[in-house]
Amino acid sequence: MSAHVNVVVFGSAGRLGQAVIRCVLASTQAKLTCALVKPGSGLADEPLERVFGTMQRNVDFSTSLDPDVAADVLVDVSGPVAFDAALALALERRIAFVSGTTGLREEQHAAMRHAAHTIPVLWTANFSLGIAMLMRAARRVASALPDWDCDILEMHHARKQDAPSGTALALGQVVAESRQTVLAEHAVFARIDKTGPRQPGEIGFASLRGGDVVGEHTIVFATDGERLELTHRAGSRDIFGRGALAAAIWLARREPGMYSFDEVLAPAE
Ligand SMILES: NC(=O)c1ccc[n+]([C@@H]2O[C@H](COP(=O)([O-])OP(=O)(O)OC[C@H]3O[C@@H](n4cnc5c(N)ncnc54)[C@H](OP(=O)(O)O)[C@@H]3O)[C@@H](O)[C@H]2O)c1
Repeated sequence: MSAHVNVVVFGSAGRLGQAVIRCVLASTQAKLTCALVKPGSGLADEPLERVFGTMQRNVDFSTSLDPDVAADVLVDVSGPVAFDAALALALERRIAFVSGTTGLREEQHAAMRHAAHTIPVLWTANFSLGIAMLMRAARRVASALPDWDCDILEMHHARKQDAPSGTALALGQVVAESRQTVLAEHAVFARIDKTGPRQPGEIGFASLRGGDVVGEHTIVFATDGERLELTHRAGSRDIFGRGALAAAIWLARREPGMYSFDEVLAPAE
């Protein structure tokens, strides 16, 4: 393997894809070797400088990964519809696979676990360092205060496709695991009409959509007389680009297996 990590981005025309590419172009440890866009995209075969204003490395936006292009890791930031093709491409090239796509079906998560027998795989609903710390904090509070009510509130920009956000679900998963329960059996996604009093162990979700909000998550722990709220606010998509790049560099040299974003960060206390 060369000194730098050769990165392929899948979903390069998207908001997150472009944030990842900006970070890769600025990195001394990674090199962008292919920027994949959807067949038929207006960017297909266009030079990268059309979007990024740089003469960087003669890379064009492309609809396919040529066999002679060096590739160590594929970063998928497309969406649930294109995800299967992204994973298939990483498997075909036997390269590491990092995905930040949310709204995946359970079969798609299972496909990643299966692929992890052959290639290194890392999926995260959120590439932010702050969210990774929020996950750790949520785990700690949920197990220390097992009887407190827990609800998760999130807000995202008006164009977001899935709800609740993948990060909100991941937070719910952490809380359920910390309490040795199953999220699917305790999640409450809607409170309308007369739903009656809250049941013990429920994990409620609420989603707001509007404007250009990059991403906000609040996890609320409540009991009689007091309430603890942990909030993370993302102000720029660049944080996700940085996290995706860190994950790609870290994963490129791993053995096949399923890894978490938490493992990329500093060891847990
Ligand atoms: N993990 C995280 O930290 C994080 C953070 C933010 C967002 N996300 C998730 O990341 C995903 C992308 O988000 P986004 O805001 O960047 O969405 P977006 O702006 O819609 O970008 C998705 C891009 O993927 C492209 N695409 C679709 N099919 C493709 C294919 N076969 N090959 C190559 N590219 C293809 C789309 O092209 P067209 O425009 O031509 O359809 C679009 O440009 C979503 O699932 C979102 O929820 C994750």
